[in-house]
This record gives sequence, C-alpha cells and structure tokens, in this order.
Amino acid sequence: MNERIDALHPYPFEKLRTLVADIEPNPALTPLSLGIGEPQHAPPQAVLDALTESALAVAKYPATLGQPELRQTIADWAMGRFAPVQLDASQVIPVTGTREALFAVIQALVGEGQRILMPNPFYQIYEGAAIMAGATPGYLNADASNEFAPTPADVDSFENVAAVFLCTPGNPSGRVLSIDELQAWIKAAQTHNFLLISDECYSEIYRDEQSPPPGLLQAAAEMGLSGLNNCIAVGSLSKRSNLPGLRSGYMIGSEAQMAAFAKYRTYHGCAMPGHHQQASMVAWKDEKHVQDNREQYRQKYAMAQQILSDYLPSTPPAGGFYLWIEVPGGDDEGFTQLLLKEYNLRVLPGRYLGRDIDGHNPGAGRVRAALVSATETTQEALERLKSALDRWSQSA
Ligand SMILES: Cc1ncc(COP(=O)(O)O)c(C=O)c1O
Repeated sequence: MNERIDALHPYPFEKLRTLVADIEPNPALTPLSLGIGEPQHAPPQAVLDALTESALAVAKYPATLGQPELRQTIADWAMGRFAPVQLDASQVIPVTGTREALFAVIQALVGEGQRILMPNPFYQIYEGAAIMAGATPGYLNADASNEFAPTPADVDSFENVAAVFLCTPGNPSGRVLSIDELQAWIKAAQTHNFLLISDECYSEIYRDEQSPPPGLLQAAAEMGLSGLNNCIAVGSLSKRSNLPGLRSGYMIGSEAQMAAFAKYRTYHGCAMPGHHQQASMVAWKDEKHVQDNREQYRQKYAMAQQILSDYLPSTPPAGGFYLWIEVPGGDDEGFTQLLLKEYNLRVLPGRYLGRDIDGHNPGAGRVRAALVSATETTQEALERLKSALDRWSQSA
C-alpha cells in the first residue's frame, strides 16, 4: 500500500456526511441542496446531438493528445477569449476535466520533497496532488483580510517551491484576480522559478457581461511572454456549458511543459473518448448558450442579494456560482446541522474547504451555498436559508 494514500484528507462531502449522519431532516419539507457545485442548468442540445451522432467513435482508441481539430478549436477559443495570447495547437492538451488535469500535472512536473503552495480555503485536489507526488502542500490564507486573494508578498519563503496554484474566479469566494495580481504572480514565478498553475474552471461564469475575468494566458501575453514559460492554465466545459459529466477541459502551457505532460499521460491513460471530443468542439464553438447560462446565474444572484440582503455584502461575487456566507456567531457546523434538521436544506461548512494554520482556519465561520439549481428551486432554498439565518442570529 502506498503510504501517501493515508495522508490524503477526507473529502469535504465525506466530512459533511459524518456531520449530519444522525440528523433526521424535517420531513415536512422537500429536500433541497446548495451543497455541491454541480451545474443543474440544461446542457446545450447541439452538444448532446453531436455526442450521439459520433457515438461510433467508441469503436476506436482515442489518441492521448486528442484530435488536432479539437486542439485547434480550443486554441482558437482561448486566443479569442484571452487576447492577446498567441497559441499553437501543440500548446493545448485536451483533458478529462480540470480535476484530472490539476492532479496529473503535479505528478508529471513536480519532484518529491518540493513544496506546492495553494490558497486556503481551496479545491482539495491541489492538496491531494501534492501529497501523492511526495511534495509538501503549503497554504496561503485567502480571507477578508486580503480580499480573498493571497499575493506573493504573503509567502514567507519561496525556497523549494515547485508550483503555486491560483484559482480565478475563486472557489469558494468568487474573487477574480486582476491582470496586475496575475502579473505579480508571474513575476514571482520567473524570479523563483516555479510553475504557476491557474485553475480557471469558473472563468466563463461571471456577473458583468462587459468584463470577463482575465486569465493567466492573457496576463502573460500582456507582459510580452510569448512562450508562456512557467505558466499553465486549465479550464473546462463543466461549468461553462453545464457538461460536468462530459469530462472535457483543456490544459495550456509552454511547448516543453506540455510535451512532458503528454508523455506522462501516455501512461496515465485518460485520453478523452472520441465522441466527447466531437461534442466538445461543438460546445467550444458556441457562445450563445454560455451567455444564456450567465444570465440565469445573474438572475439568481439578484434574487439572493434581495432575499439575503442582511447577510451578504452589497455586491455579489464577480465570478463563480457560490455564496460564501458569514454565519452569525461563527459556528458553521452547528448552523449546517440546524439547516438540515429544521429546513431540510444542505450547505457546506466553510471549515471543510480550508486547513487550520496557526490555529486559524480561514474557511471556518462561513458556509458555502452553490446557486446551481433552477431559479424557482433556488428561490425556495434561499428563503429557507434566510429564515434559518434570522433564527440563528437571534440565538447567536
Ligand atoms: C475550483 C475547482 N477546480 C476544478 C474543478 C473540477 O472541475 P472539472 O473537473 O469538472 O473541470 C472544480 C469543480 O467543482 C472546482 O470547483
């Protein structure tokens, strides 16, 4: 048995299951969940059609690197979205979701005994990837004190740091990193020679139609970095196009890094099935469904701002689809239990997304609520959440 398996932390939803194991949810109410960040909006019909029309692709082994047409489609999309970046299709590798890519890239490109930094709270795959690679995770607090965005100045020492994860828009905060903030990280990566891996799986879910979140590729290009050097960006169709089950995303980096990653993937064995590649091309080439998708989220945020006005900042998060709510009195676990017991509603305690550093977990005292369900269901859930928060604040 690989001892590193034992070092992996239980997943946040496993901790949630344990927390509520003995709770009987209020049977008078239909069960609702704002717990999991799984998009519930309809996937685009044209993508479903492409999937079935190309089903015969299952009769062939897909190439590890993906079809040249898909790589070019993603390169074209990224050059449009993150202008002025210039890309060659050889810098693009289709991956089976960013989760797989974020994990695998560390196994491929980071050696044992090195350090990997990540925001705290964070997407737990970053940490698991570090542990399984024999590296040491380092946590950079992302809380109200730094506007949910750690900077290179928050790092005590870059000694032995092989990689830094960024997440923009952030999960759970929805914080979008600016070009200046991304460039500060790129400069640090150049100075201290580490990989900068930007998780941009929420890049297409944002509030202001006129200002899409900038990406790492764009920030690098605006600095005149043509070869991308130490920068790697990942994105996917899961949130953009409501296709979490398609397992389709991309990794983009320098040719040298992508060649090493491709070599690793030959052994890893997770090439994207051919019919998923065909369907993915249809999805990347259409923006209309993505605009409609954003509009649905915008409406739900407007609703949340109204219903939960006493408990939310005056403006919604710039990106992503979560509410990152401060619990009056700070007991995120107790509040989560009350919500389920009395209101039959699930959320995720914020502490499960973070780690205790020097006695402080920056996720504690908050709950994460995903606005992924249909508008009417979300409204009902938000109204229950409001009643629960009112009740909880009276007793806190
Ligand atoms: C921050 C973050 N990164 C990556 C992922 C993985 O997404 P996928 O593998 O579907 O692209 C998620 C999924 O919820 C996420 O929240």
